[in-house]
Amino acid sequence: MINSSQLRRQYLDFFANLNHAIIPSSPLVPENDPTTLFTSSGMQPIVPYLLGAKHPQGKRIANSQKCFRSQDIEEVGDNRHTTFFEMLGNWSLGDYFKEEQLKWIFEFLVDELKLDPAKLYVTVYGGDQSLGIPRDDQATELWQKLFASRDVEAKVVEQAQEKGLQNGRIFFYEGATNWWSRAGQPANMPIGEPGGPDSEIFYDFGEERGFHKQSVFADQPCHVNCDCGRFLEIGNSVFMQYLKTEQGFEPLPQLNIDFGGGLERMLAAIHNEPDVFKIDLFLPIIEYLEEISGKKYQENTTAFRVIADHMRAAVMLIADGVLPDNKDQGYFVRRLIRRSVRYGRQLNITQPFLKKIAELVGKIYPEYPHVLLKADTIGQALHHEEQKFLQTLVRGLQEFEKQIIIEKELTGQLAFTLYETYGFPLELSIEEAEHKNFPLSAKIKEDFQNIKTQHAEESRTASTGMFKGGLADHSEVTIKYHTATHLLHSALRKILGNHVEQKGSNINGERLRFDFTHHQALTEQEKQQVEQQINEWIGADLPVTKQVMNKNEALEKGALAFFAEKYPDEVNVYTIGLDPQNDWISKELCGGPHVVNTGEIGRVKIVKEKSAAAGVRRLYLQLT
Ligand code: ALA
Repeated sequence: MINSSQLRRQYLDFFANLNHAIIPSSPLVPENDPTTLFTSSGMQPIVPYLLGAKHPQGKRIANSQKCFRSQDIEEVGDNRHTTFFEMLGNWSLGDYFKEEQLKWIFEFLVDELKLDPAKLYVTVYGGDQSLGIPRDDQATELWQKLFASRDVEAKVVEQAQEKGLQNGRIFFYEGATNWWSRAGQPANMPIGEPGGPDSEIFYDFGEERGFHKQSVFADQPCHVNCDCGRFLEIGNSVFMQYLKTEQGFEPLPQLNIDFGGGLERMLAAIHNEPDVFKIDLFLPIIEYLEEISGKKYQENTTAFRVIADHMRAAVMLIADGVLPDNKDQGYFVRRLIRRSVRYGRQLNITQPFLKKIAELVGKIYPEYPHVLLKADTIGQALHHEEQKFLQTLVRGLQEFEKQIIIEKELTGQLAFTLYETYGFPLELSIEEAEHKNFPLSAKIKEDFQNIKTQHAEESRTASTGMFKGGLADHSEVTIKYHTATHLLHSALRKILGNHVEQKGSNINGERLRFDFTHHQALTEQEKQQVEQQINEWIGADLPVTKQVMNKNEALEKGALAFFAEKYPDEVNVYTIGLDPQNDWISKELCGGPHVVNTGEIGRVKIVKEKSAAAGVRRLYLQLT
């Protein structure tokens, strides 16, 4: 069976034979592009050429691009999500289009990689009348012919989300499922952004493995976009042909192809192995972790996967010049490292263990020789950050040991004091108490949360009194909820109308409660739209920036102020989205703090909606 280097080579050779120029991967931090923190898809460095600039190497380009998707940090742990990955890409810059693209990629998968065509499924764009963009019947017909050429039945099916597979092979989904742009669905795209319908290819690992039955989706029908793990998206052909303008969508000066397929995922499909962590790009890290922890991967998949993913990503990011920091790109490297240390403890690894991984990753990637060359420096950086975090943990542990001997039981109050003073996480207090056989007070988690909320409210009242407006409780979860509040406010105004005004909000570690003016209950559809909108903004990885300005100036710029009259003359304005391009989705007067990038929020869910008072609705939202 082929390995990752061979697959990369095979893909690039295949497209080189079709007259594509093979270009190197761009760095993970985009050059000359302040609008985004990371290169998160192969097309990002290609955008100017999709818009019409002449590429020095011609109209057919292919490469393997290093990508980092910060918004997937919390998704890591299942069989297929990773933050870092390589995207195999091919582009037509106003040259070939749908017919050639679908034929070539099908031939590559079936003839070159020898994937069984009966295990491939595809999705096609369903059209959007309001945008004047038709359903993609051409791609559908092309797929029908391609499958027919291999004697594979290819029924076209609609409403797969509700009705399941229905023996289909080609699927139309509702809404913007098969639309691709850097900003997500059409409504979220800034003016000047290119996008278009796409067609995704999925590999089926087979119903018989029982993924769906064992998943939380078991009571709903399975379909190719289901999250149960049975189907794996291995490639996406984007028909990059539209430009968003003030007047709506207009054709780009040229018809482009933007194809991207995950190297790791394609390899998993070739091996018919649904776990991408079992391929050669992870194995040396997994084996190292087994060795130092004395534990087996198969019995601890989540912790192993999180560490293997996060460390590979951190090493690649540091190799591209990002050091752990409190802000911007560095903040993510810090988070990757700290999460790895935390998960390391779950495997009973308490000694520093990260340094060595730099070298392992360097050896995994001979294609990126700078990683191995810099392995020492990268290892030092990992080690330094790990030590710092371990010290935080050690201080917390020492205090824990002193206090638990006095109190003889772990209470919510004690756990909160450790958290508040030493940044010592609740889960660690619980682990330690269990480890040392001290009892936990009943409802410890609930008590901890209540004390935390109460503490936050008291501090907030105090700080509001001083017109600081700052959040006293700066825990990571609270900060996420705080930014989610702005997104929710914006989404409600966008979907229900500008009469929506925030009347109040309350955050605890478990949920956000939000009151706003609106005269009737939200319909199911409205709730779904609001939720979807927020998640799309989160998925778009929008920057959150702070500016200090004069209050009137801020209001003139369209910033929303909840209790405008209470703010001092000099205010903080938080903007979500691309401010310089005047393409923001939220601007509010606020004390903060906020996440640096919406991607950090993860995903949100509206859990309840009810009346709060006459003309005021109350909505509850949770991070999922
Ligand atoms: N740019 C497309 C994607 O990332 C291929 O899915």
